[in-house]
Formats: sequence, C-alpha cells, structure tokens
Amino acid sequence: MTENTTIESACAVRLQKLAERGCRFLGVRYPLLGGGMAWVSEHHLVSAISNAGGLGVLASGSMQPEHLQTEIEKTRAMTQASFGVNIIVMHPQIDALIDVCLQNAVSHIILAGGVPSVDLIQHAKKNHAKVFCFAPSLALAKRLIRNGADALILEGTEAGGHIGPTSTTVLAQEILLHIDECPVFIAGGIGRGEMMLAYLEMGAAGCQLGTAFVCCTESQVHPSFKTAFMRARARDAVASVQIDARFPVIPVRSLQNTAMRDFHSLQKEVIKSFDKGELTLKEAQLKIEHFWAGALRRAVVDGDIENGSLMAGQSVGLVEKEQSTAATIEGLMEQALQALAKRETRLATL
Ligand SMILES: Cc1cc2nc3c(=O)[nH]c(=O)nc-3n(C[C@H](O)[C@H](O)[C@H](O)COP(=O)(O)O)c2cc1C
Repeated sequence: MTENTTIESACAVRLQKLAERGCRFLGVRYPLLGGGMAWVSEHHLVSAISNAGGLGVLASGSMQPEHLQTEIEKTRAMTQASFGVNIIVMHPQIDALIDVCLQNAVSHIILAGGVPSVDLIQHAKKNHAKVFCFAPSLALAKRLIRNGADALILEGTEAGGHIGPTSTTVLAQEILLHIDECPVFIAGGIGRGEMMLAYLEMGAAGCQLGTAFVCCTESQVHPSFKTAFMRARARDAVASVQIDARFPVIPVRSLQNTAMRDFHSLQKEVIKSFDKGELTLKEAQLKIEHFWAGALRRAVVDGDIENGSLMAGQSVGLVEKEQSTAATIEGLMEQALQALAKRETRLATL
C-alpha cells in the first residue's frame, strides 16, 4: 500500500464518521437530501436520489392531497428506499397534506416556506415521521427545537426559489455552531463536495441541494429549462426586487429572463395606478402577488423559459452537464473525499 492509498483509506473512514449522524437520521448512505422543488421534485427525480443513496424529497408545492397521494405511490413504485415530503406551511390544505404523509408512513416531513406552529410540528410527528423546520435565526432555531422539530435546515440566500436575506456562511456561523440538540442540515449555494465537507467539519449533519439536481438525467424538467441552467453563470441567478415598501415581495432567486423584467415593470405600473387612486391597496397587492402564479410550471413543464420562472440558486454556475443522479451524488462524495485526502497529504509533508 502506498502512502497515498493509506491516507485515502483513513480519509474515507473519517468522512464516514463525519457523515454518520446525518446518515443515521436520514436513514441513507450519504448525508444529503434533495431539496423539495415544486414541479421539479416529482417521483422520477425523488426516487433516483433515494436510489443513489441520498434522501429524495417530494415537493408538494400547490398540490391537492389526492395528487400528493398519487405521487407518493408512484415514488414507492420506483424505490424501496425512504424519501421525504416537503410541505409549504401556508398551503390552505396543510393538515390534509400532512395526513396523507402520515397515512403513507412517510419517514421525513419538511415543513417549508415559513415558521410552523407547535401544533403543526406535533401533527406532523404523529406517525413517527421526523420533522424538519427551516431556521432563519438562532432564537427561532431554539424555539423550533423546543416545539418539537427533529432537525433544522439552514438555507442561505444563495439558494434557488424563495429565499431569506442571510448568506449560508453567516447562518452557519450564527446558528450551526450553537446547536447540538438536533441534526442541522445546510442548504444554499452548495454545488461541490468540498463545500459539503466544510459544513460537515463545522458540525453539520449534512446538506440539502436543489439546483445541483435539476439537470440530472432522471429530472423531468423541460429540456429548455435544463439548457438554461447549463448555460447560466452564478451571477445570472438573481433575487427578485421589491420596489416599494407598501407592496411586499417575497424574494425569489431565479435566472434573469423576460418575466423578471416584466415583474419590475408591473410593480411600477401597479404602484402608479394605486397612487392615482385607480386601485385599492388590496387590489394592487394582489396584482403583484398573482404575477408569478403558474410561472414555475410554465418554465419547468411547458419549457417557456422567457415568460416562466427559472428558479435557480447561485450554484447554477457549477452545473455544466446533464448526468445521472447517481453520478452527481457519487461525484460530490468523491470531491469531499479527495479534498480531505489532499489536505492530509499536504499536512503529512509539512
Ligand atoms: C426550481 C426550484 C424550486 C424550488 N421549490 C421549492 C419548494 O417548493 N419548497 C421549498 O421548500 N424549497 C424549494 N426550493 C429550494 C430547494 O428546496 C433547496 O432548499 C435549494 O434549492 C437549496 O439551494 P441550492 O439551490 O443552492 O442548492 C426550490 C429551489 C429551486 C431551484
């Protein structure tokens, strides 16, 4: 055995140890979960992630409970491994969606898009499901744990989709370093194994990746959506801008296109009409809110990449080609291992 192979075997053991808590919690081989992405995370991609050793997560988005039931059944038909379900807490039928998960003994439920109440967390835990919540601050992280959250996700502003204001690295320093009570998973801007390794070494149980899985072969998104991702650079994934404090806009990170530009013009027109008294505050707010209705589906399913929403994280710049989900996951783990081995080799020569 050469010195390099000895170092690499020792690093493989070390990586396994770093990953152990997350793997045990997720019930998988690798400490990573696929971020639930509305319209993207359907049964093909989710089962592929679970079959490749991560935890696939179905995105229930705006689904009706019956649709979620069907998706769960279709996913089960494609994998024997466990998978999770991502549910938006503001969904009008949230209780019914959780019930579908409980009836189907879904092992992991991710409560997203807001801070869930204690009742909601407790409801989701009823059939032994492990419940994840998103923590935007240390105080909220502690409260969510007291309220029963089994794990936390810290999602930084680099992520695709709806985002908070704080970067992943700052959330990790602010929250991750101070939470021992439950596993913490890091999301937002992670596109390589070296980054996963860094968060594992900081104490994370694992990472949640979304953007990195969009172009996987098993992902059913429209080919034009995949092409847009493969062409994009990090700087093309920008957050939508709110132009008037009276009309709140929840920022969404997506690729620049016609819809993004139209959204800014629409806000200006609506605000002008409101100021002239042609629209009430409520009517004006609704016009702005409704702009994006159906826009993600338009891009992901129909392939209208100019007028739809191209939600993408900044790590889109690292997405270069279409490859299988298994190759993506194996690649991430290999990068983590090589980074560790390179460092140990360098240290050994000092
Ligand atoms: C196209 C797209 C759709 C998304 N939809 C959802 C969603 O429905 N629910 C949710 O909690 N997060 C959603 N996200 C966020 C992901 O679950 C994940 O946390 C995020 O992609 C991680 O950051 P990354 O994009 O830098 O990997 C979405 C992200 C993308 C790119």
